[in-house]
Amino acid sequence: MPANEAGMAAALKGASALDMVEAGARLVESDPEGQSVGVGGLPDRDGHVTLDACIMDHTLNAGSVCFVQNIEHPITLARRVMEDTPHVMLAGAGAEQFAASLGMPTRDLLTPASAAALKEWQATSEYAPIINIENHDTISLLARDEQGRLAGACTTSGLAYKMHGRVGDSPIIGAGLYVDGEVGAAAATGLGEAVMRTLGSFLVVELMRGGMSPQAASEEAIGRIMERMDTADLQVGYIALGADGETGGHAIHPHFSYAVHELKRGNIKGSLVESSHA
Ligand code: GLY
Repeated sequence: MPANEAGMAAALKGASALDMVEAGARLVESDPEGQSVGVGGLPDRDGHVTLDACIMDHTLNAGSVCFVQNIEHPITLARRVMEDTPHVMLAGAGAEQFAASLGMPTRDLLTPASAAALKEWQATSEYAPIINIENHDTISLLARDEQGRLAGACTTSGLAYKMHGRVGDSPIIGAGLYVDGEVGAAAATGLGEAVMRTLGSFLVVELMRGGMSPQAASEEAIGRIMERMDTADLQVGYIALGADGETGGHAIHPHFSYAVHELKRGNIKGSLVESSHA
């Protein structure tokens, strides 16, 4: 909800959809209480906080960074990749070098609370992330502005206690996020490996291109995962936004909620939606 409020506050000042999703993502990236994104993100099993993020606009412009460390706002770095380089994706040391060339400050993202959580995990080192807590590891935002332009952003510290070097779906265009201004936008949260194997966000947008509503397309994409994988311990959720502003969302397991804000006659209307589940 606070991320949406940041995006809507930007919208009221005339921001584009791209500015809105970046503003929302930045708010969450700076929040040390959130242990799944940016500052305070849970580290990998070696104690490194490594971040993935991507951003995309209605014209198929996209930017992405993966496996970056010590950068508070990977979403802004991803946007700069999109706007200031001929590339879509920069990784690791190369992305950090690009951030330094832009004058972006560096800081240690590991908070005492996240360091303590790692220490507790290391006592057993059991790799069984808890659904909806350690598996709920990402924020994805989709926006449509007054001119009808769509944009999306996705930012994460990834799966808690992952192997060092692991990159998830969140920086992968088509997996963690996809936007086609003529059709709609979709984004993912949850276990990146399942999203990458099904190229989930692209799938949702393509299903919408074929005529499905955002809700039906999200349900179909979740269904594809459920048909082919053992989902007992696996959570994935999609949110989707049509070019006309219709929204939808679906998840494998209950209690993945998402927030919808609409600007109606000058008032911000916000609500939490519990994504339905099979
Ligand atoms: N969905 C984020 C990740 O798996 O890293």
